[in-house]
Amino acid sequence: MAAIRFSNVFKRYASGQDALLGVDFELASGEMAFLTGHSGAGKSTLLKLIMLMERPSRGQVWVGQQDLSSLHRSQIPYLRRQIGVVFQNHQLLFDRSVFENVALPLQISGYDPADAARRARAALDKVGLLTREKHNPVTLSTGEQQRVGIARAIVHKPKLLLADEPTGNLDPQLSEDIMRLFGQFNSIGTTVLIASHDLSLINRMRHRMLTLKHGRLVADG
Ligand SMILES: Nc1ncnc2c1ncn2[C@@H]1O[C@H](COP(=O)(O)OP(=O)(O)OP(=O)(O)O)[C@@H](O)[C@H]1O
Ligand SMILES: [Mg+2]
Repeated sequence: MAAIRFSNVFKRYASGQDALLGVDFELASGEMAFLTGHSGAGKSTLLKLIMLMERPSRGQVWVGQQDLSSLHRSQIPYLRRQIGVVFQNHQLLFDRSVFENVALPLQISGYDPADAARRARAALDKVGLLTREKHNPVTLSTGEQQRVGIARAIVHKPKLLLADEPTGNLDPQLSEDIMRLFGQFNSIGTTVLIASHDLSLINRMRHRMLTLKHGRLVADG
């Protein structure tokens, strides 16, 4: 089954700017792929369509069995609960501890506090930061902060993990560690799609690569 399917997807912003032009692809459930291309190629736009942060101007996007164009507004939170998202600027709360940053999304979606705490610690353990749970994120290095962002993205065990330039600020070694972490989530069945323009890193990872150029998918392999 496809985890993500784009069928002839166009996106033109209200400004008149075309961001995606006739994009077609499928990502199978359990697959891991990179999305690459020059700045402005449409990578972030493509990810935003999957999360329904934006809507296509034409064409259709499916997440699992769900055609997003027929998804009612009230169902968007349900869609988002199936997706974990990692941003370049991880958007951590600096007035909360590492633990609270990871547990908060679960508390907001109504998890029992003890269950939320257990899951948050399991997620922090996966990214190797359990010993830092009481610290303020301000006291962590950039790479550690990025890992807290990843723990937060996977704490609800999403079937689909999206990342937008997750290694943008990191040195090559840390970038590779972060990518290995994504590979581990993928190896336990999570579908992973990572937007990145770091070609040397992507090439070392030997995964499928989707390349956008001025809004068109020009390569897939
Ligand atoms: N909210 C918006 N309103 C108008 N135009 C936008 C908006 N967001 C993006 N664009 C335009 O759409 C095109 C694709 O942008 P997008 O952010 O998807 O590219 P990207 O591949 O993620 O680039 P980068 O590598 O710089 O992050 C660009 O021309 C951009 O200027
Ligand atoms: Mg972008």
